[in-house]
Amino acid sequence: MLRLPGLIDPHVHVREPGATHKEDWTTATAAALAGGFTAILAMPNTSPPVTDAAALETALGAARAKARCDYAQYFGATAANAEAIAPLASRAAGLKMYLNQTYGTLRLDDTAAWHAHFRLWPRTAPLVVHAERHTLAAAILFAALYDRPVHIAHVSRREEILLIRAAKARGLPVTCEVTPHHLFLTADDAPRIGPGRSEVRPVLASPADRQALWDNLEVIDCFATDHAPHTLAEKDSPQPPPGFPGLETALPLLLTAVQEGRLTPNALITRMHTNPRRIFGLPPQPETWVEVDENARWEIPLRGWQTRADWSPFAGMQVIGRVRRVVLRGQTVYADGKVLASPGSGKPLRGR
Ligand code: NCD
Ligand code: ZN
Ligand code: ZN
Repeated sequence: MLRLPGLIDPHVHVREPGATHKEDWTTATAAALAGGFTAILAMPNTSPPVTDAAALETALGAARAKARCDYAQYFGATAANAEAIAPLASRAAGLKMYLNQTYGTLRLDDTAAWHAHFRLWPRTAPLVVHAERHTLAAAILFAALYDRPVHIAHVSRREEILLIRAAKARGLPVTCEVTPHHLFLTADDAPRIGPGRSEVRPVLASPADRQALWDNLEVIDCFATDHAPHTLAEKDSPQPPPGFPGLETALPLLLTAVQEGRLTPNALITRMHTNPRRIFGLPPQPETWVEVDENARWEIPLRGWQTRADWSPFAGMQVIGRVRRVVLRGQTVYADGKVLASPGSGKPLRGR
C-alpha cells in the first residue's frame, strides 16, 4: 500500500447550477473522492455563470448542501464585472479568465477587457487563464505588465510549454497545469475514442506536443483533471460539447507512469498536492490521506463511474494502481469502490 496526501484538483467543472443532468455537487465530489481527490476548485462556466455575488452564493449554497469533499468556487471574468467581484476575492477559489473560445459563454476576446481584472483582482488571490497558443503569450505579457501571478490552465502544446519555460527562466510569475488527457492521449487516439467523444479544449494534440510535455515535466507545476462531464448522448450528437470526465482516472494513469519509471512518487505528490496547495493558498486538511494499491492492474472501463456523465475517454487502457481508501479529516470517506461521505460533509476551503 502506498499512502498519498489528499489530492487537490484545481480544475473541475461541477455543472451545478444549470446542467445537473451532466453532474452536480454530489456526484462531482463522489467522483473526486473515488479518484483520491479530497479538495476541488470548481470552474465558473455554469448556467448562469458565476460572475457576481448572487451567483457565487447560489453555487456555494448547493456545495454546502451536497459536497462530499472540500471545495471552493471560482468567479468568471466578464467585460463588466471587475470592480464588483474584486472585493469578494477572499470568498472565491480565484478568478478564471476565458481568453479563447470553449464551452460556455465566458469569453474575453478583446485584450482591452483584460486590464481591469489584472489591475483590480488582488495580487494574493489566484488568477487562472484559459489561454492557448498566441493568446498564452499575451497572457504572460499581462502577468509581466501587472507584475502579478498568473496560473495557466491545461497546457497542451509544445509551443506553449516552451513559452512558459522561457517566462519562468526570465523570472515571470507564471505557473501552469497539465491534464492527464494531454499527457496520455493525442489526436491519433481520436478515431478510437470517436469523433464527438474526442472533442475537448484544448484539442488533443500531436504526439510531438505530448512528448514535449513529458520532456518539460519540471516546468509543469500541477496535474489538473479539467474534469468536464457531458453525457454520452451529448458527445454523440451533431454538436458535441468539448470535454472529458477525468477525476476517477487521473491518479491510476499517473501511477502507471510511476510504475513505468516516467514519474517519481514525489513528483506526483508535488503536482497533485504540494504545488496546488501553495499556488491556490489552500488550508491544510488534517488527518487526510489516500491509500493506493500501487500494484493493482486493471482496464479502464467505459461505464460504471461515480460521475453522472458516466463515461471515460481512456476506456480500454491498461493501468496499474488503484485507490483503496480515502480518509478526510479522520473519516473514511471512500473504501473499496464505495463513497461513504454524506452529501454536505465537505467543507468550504475559503472563509466566508
Ligand atoms: C470545458 C467544459 O466543458 O466546461 N471543456 C473542455 O473541453 N475543457 C471548458 C474548458 O475547460 O475549457
Ligand atoms: Zn479551459
Ligand atoms: Zn475546464
